[in-house]
Formats: sequence, structure tokens, C-alpha cells
Amino acid sequence: MLNVLVVDDDAGLRLSVKSALVATEKFAVDEAFDGVNAIEKIKKCNYNMVLLDVDMPRMKGLEALKHIKEYDPSIIVIIMTAYATIDDAVTAVKDGAYNYVSKPIKGEDLIQMVEKALAAHSLISQVAASAPTLTMESGRKIVGSTAQMQKVFHIIDRLSKVDTPVLIRGSSGTGKELVARAIHVNSRSKDGPFVAINCSAIPENLFESELFGHEKGSFTGADQRKIGKFQYAEGGTLFLDEVGDMPSLMQVKLLRVLQEKVFTPVGSNREIQTNVRIIAATNRPLEEMIKNNDFREDLYYRLNVMPITLPALKDRQEDLESLINNFIRKYNEKQGKRIISCTPEALSCFKKYEWPGNIRELENVIEHAFILEESNHLTIHSLPENLLIVTGTELKAKPLVSNVNKNNDLNKENNNSDLVQINDDKLDFNKHKEAFEKEFIIKALTMFRGRINQTALHANIPKKTLLRKIEKYGINTRDFMDAP
Ligand SMILES: Nc1ncnc2c1ncn2[C@@H]1O[C@H](COP(=O)(O)OP(=O)(O)OP(=O)(O)O)[C@@H](O)[C@H]1O
Ligand SMILES: [Mg+2]
Repeated sequence: MLNVLVVDDDAGLRLSVKSALVATEKFAVDEAFDGVNAIEKIKKCNYNMVLLDVDMPRMKGLEALKHIKEYDPSIIVIIMTAYATIDDAVTAVKDGAYNYVSKPIKGEDLIQMVEKALAAHSLISQVAASAPTLTMESGRKIVGSTAQMQKVFHIIDRLSKVDTPVLIRGSSGTGKELVARAIHVNSRSKDGPFVAINCSAIPENLFESELFGHEKGSFTGADQRKIGKFQYAEGGTLFLDEVGDMPSLMQVKLLRVLQEKVFTPVGSNREIQTNVRIIAATNRPLEEMIKNNDFREDLYYRLNVMPITLPALKDRQEDLESLINNFIRKYNEKQGKRIISCTPEALSCFKKYEWPGNIRELENVIEHAFILEESNHLTIHSLPENLLIVTGTELKAKPLVSNVNKNNDLNKENNNSDLVQINDDKLDFNKHKEAFEKEFIIKALTMFRGRINQTALHANIPKKTLLRKIEKYGINTRDFMDAP
């Protein structure tokens, strides 16, 4: 689903363009009433395409175009023009607009133009992130506008011409593997394989055979000859993840490969030449480990020829919004959704959180929210509970008191209370239980705007039970939903 913004001061025209696009079921359409309003919206949301009028109050289309292209050159802009402003439209195309359509706009012409524009920009460039990014294979992006990330991009670029080993440092989820892959796809050996091995996941007694392979019968259980990861990675890159967990004997053997470019499979007396670029990564304090004799100093210096350190997400606040938008694009594509952006409350919650699991945790939170979210914005209602608690974010009930009252005739006198009050002269357990249930369900539905799945999940009621009770108490869930 692609997001389109229609910018025109004529509400009737906006509506007709919107209807034509929405009818194709390929686009989610938003509106802006002039250039200034459009720029505000573009900075907050992810639009793939903007349909822009030329003659508007406050900011003209041509000026708006400049701002849009400055902000994000990958947004496709189509000018909508009346005959009188056709010259301006031609200028706009020179300034980076894709093309123009003439007013009055015919629905079919518009759709044809929009589809042509999208075909010209492949979908991959459509999902290009708006912040400074490094593009990898199949449209994957590394978002990074901070000085530290720009330095990383610069190093990746410098590494494209040399095959020196690289050591990537950074806490869990900061993007070490993503950067390793970026180095590979930008290197001279990009057509060779990228082989990743997690050093903390291999049993010590199998390590050597895993890296260098073994001959048949070389040890108990070696009933066949086996090729090691070095041979698989020949002509490409071997990514040694969690290198700090490599057993010390293997550290010696790895050092030999780095120095002499040869290795010997287990049980063989034949040396094999190797041409493999080594990228290692770790989140462990190697310098301290050296002092405790847990990591070899000579290997450290050999690997550390080109160190890259990735910052924690909490130290990259500037990138937070671009990363969120990057993942919104990714999951819109993956889950066929049309979420435009996150609400200011959700963003503020993201900003307050410290992200101990870094970018991986952010991505997981967004993926989780995508599953729950039913509107076209990520709201705090779809964020995990622990995030709300840690950041002190309160799920505000919607001010729907009149609707609640409308539903709550069984318990009218208790509307001001926090759930049912007990009245001594009507001390009847079943009646009070029902009154409580009804009021509880109404409160929960109010908080989650009448959404059954979210209410059931957050209020911890099985969905079937919730539906049964809603029917029993004659509650109308539409009363709790946003006005269309
Ligand atoms: N700068 C970035 N821009 C966009 N996506 C990113 C960025 N950094 C990391 N990611 C995404 O975050 C997730 C975690 O990244 P990655 O696996 O590379 O981290 P890691 O440092 O290797 O983590 P771990 O130490 O837990 O193995 C991946 O899905 C990756 O695509
Ligand atoms: Mg990793």
C-alpha cells in the first residue's frame, strides 16, 4: 500500500482525486490544503508520492516542490495544473517533479500517470528512507545521520577497495551484522559468498572442524569428509560473530590464517590456501579480556586494523524518527498495511525509553504494534505494556462519557464511581457481579476505542468471552469507536 498526499486549496478537487486513487485499493490517501500544510505533513508522515497544485495561498506549488525535494528526494511529485499555470508545471518538472496532469483531472489519466511514475521509480526506491542512509542489496537501508554513523558509512566506503580485516564493536542489536553485510556488498568480493558463523554457538570440540573442515575418520563421529566455513567463504567474506567467545586454541589458529592465508583441515596434512575477507564482531570488552588472558593480544591487533564502533540507540536520538519510519515502511510492505506514521504520544514514549536492546528491540516493538494497530497511525494503544510502564505513559481513556452513559442504564447511579459501588439494601451478589462486569467492559472498550482484539488482549479477557458479554449486556461497540 503506497501513501499519497494530495495538495490543493480546492477541497472538491482533493476529494475527487482521493476517491479515484482510493478506488484502486492500491493507495492510502491523505490531504493538505496548501504548500505550508503539505510540508508540515511530509515531515511527520511517510509519503511515497505527492500530487501538488501550483497556484495556492501561503506557499505556491513550485516553492513547496523545492522543500519536498530537499527534505526527501525520493518522494515522487506530480504537478496538477490548470491551463493558466502550465509553464510553471514545465518548470516544476525541470526542478525534479516527475510530470504533470492537466486540470480538470480525469480519473483514468491520473491513475495511469501515477502508475507510470511508480513503475519508473522501482518499489525499492519507493521505500528509500528519508534520512541519510546507506543502501544495500534488495533495498535494505542502514539509517544513520549522526556524525558517528556518517563516519561508519565513510569507513565502509574506504573499505571497498581493500581487503583488511574489520572488527565491529557495539552492544546487542546495534546493527553489527547489518554493517558487516554492507561492507561485503560494497567490497571487491561482493560476488563471492557472505558466510556468517556465531562463535558463541559452536561447541569447543567442534570449532576447528567447523572453521577448517575435517577428513573422513579424523575423529570419532567424523564418518564423512566435511568442508569448513573458510572453504564455503572462499572469494567472499567470513563473518565471525561474537569473536570474543572463540576458544583460545582457535584464536591461535585464526591468527595463523590471518597472517599466512593458509589453513589445515582437521586430520589432514595438506595446507589449503585461502582468499577470504574476515569481519569479526563482538559486544564484549576485548581489552579487559586481554588483561585477564581471555583474548589473545596478537589476534586483537590483527583484527583491529579497521575498528568500527556502533553507538547505542539511546545515543542516537536524532535517528530515532528515521528508524521508526524505516521500519514502518518495511512492515507496511511486509504486512500489506497502510500505516502512515506514529502519533506524537507514541513518539514521545519511544523517545523516553532507553532501548537496552537497541535497534533490534525498536524493530520488534514496531512489528508487535503493527499486528495490533487497527488505525493508520501507530498509537500508544498498540505498544507493549512494559514500554508504557517504564516510560510512565498512561493509556488515556477517550472522553466518551456520554456514550458510556448511554450504554450503562443498568448502573446509571454509579457512573461517577470507579467501578460499581455496593448498595446495602440491594445486597445481591449476582446483580453486582453483572453490574461490575458491564462497567468493566465498558471502561475497557472506552480505553481501546471499541477494538475487540485489543480490548481482549489488554484487559485479559478471552475474545469469545468478551463478545458473549458484549451481547449479553447489549453494548454497542460502535459507540466507542472514532467518528468516521
Ligand atoms: N542503522 C540501521 N538502520 C536500519 N536498520 C537497522 C540498523 N541497525 C540495525 N538495524 C536492524 O536491526 C536489527 C538488528 O541488527 P543486527 O542483527 O545487525 O544487530 P547486531 O548488532 O548484530 O545484534 P546482536 O549483537 O544481537 O547479534 C536488524 O533487523 C537490522 O536490520
Ligand atoms: Mg548479530
